[in-house]
Amino acid sequence: MKLQDHIALVTGAASGIGQAVAVRFAAEGAAVMAADTDDKNGRETVERIRAAGGRAEFFHLDVSSADQARRAVQQTIDSLGGLHILFNGAGILAYGTAVETSEEIWNRIMAVNLTGTFLCSQACLPHMIAQGKGSVINVASTTGAHDACAHAVAYVSSKGGVTLLTRAMAVDHARQGVRVNAICPGPTDTPMLRNALTPEQLEAFAKTFPMGRLGRPEELAGAAVFLASDDASFVTGALLYVDGGQTAEV
Ligand SMILES: NC(=O)c1ccc[n+]([C@@H]2O[C@H](COP(=O)([O-])OP(=O)(O)OC[C@H]3O[C@@H](n4cnc5c(N)ncnc54)[C@H](O)[C@@H]3O)[C@@H](O)[C@H]2O)c1
Repeated sequence: MKLQDHIALVTGAASGIGQAVAVRFAAEGAAVMAADTDDKNGRETVERIRAAGGRAEFFHLDVSSADQARRAVQQTIDSLGGLHILFNGAGILAYGTAVETSEEIWNRIMAVNLTGTFLCSQACLPHMIAQGKGSVINVASTTGAHDACAHAVAYVSSKGGVTLLTRAMAVDHARQGVRVNAICPGPTDTPMLRNALTPEQLEAFAKTFPMGRLGRPEELAGAAVFLASDDASFVTGALLYVDGGQTAEV
């Protein structure tokens, strides 16, 4: 168990990558605060963890709210007994070029993907700095970190922001014992992707990558466990591509 005696706040824990991370962190011994706007599926994540013998609670959190982010952190500390790991998994996707993207969509994508990552990190950092130890794991994307896919200007820009926010926070807090890293998923089989593309489009898309398939959320969770654990004690500011070879080929 790589995360025994650790306490983690996982945002986006109701679905996809965040859910797989919450379940895996708990399986590795961590107590998990599963946070999401989706109460029903978030509570299901908690039930899954408890059924497997793990420790978890749910917190209703919209990451774009500074007040809610602060309360999620306080609740984690009060009810689980501390906070060592933040996994910033909440995210949304919208397609469109700069011509097609409304200001409203642009603002919402930024508010959740970039500002949400900032606000949750900001709420956790003072506690992690005070204890001299912590691991923040952001979720960027191959797109935005390595390249820019077409027709997703707000999403790509938000993930570019997450990439540099990761490095900026890593530099600022390295001497305070807080590590900040990002995983950069390639196309991963989650509701986000399934809602965006038809099954036929998904199959054709997957075949274009070196491994010829989509990633599974559990495969992203393995990378998150590494970054959260002491195995990554000298790793900060890293962008860990978990993409089946996608960026090696581009
Ligand atoms: N699936 C992919 O192919 C892929 C690739 C690269 C990066 N990512 C990134 O991985 C992260 C997780 O995506 P996923 O594919 O698991 O998507 P998903 O839609 O399955 O899960 C996202 C979760 O975030 C939650 N969420 C959305 N807005 C929120 C908010 N304001 N506050 C709190 N929770 C909120 C949703 O309710 C959902 O439970 C996202 O940041 C996404 O951009 C995904």
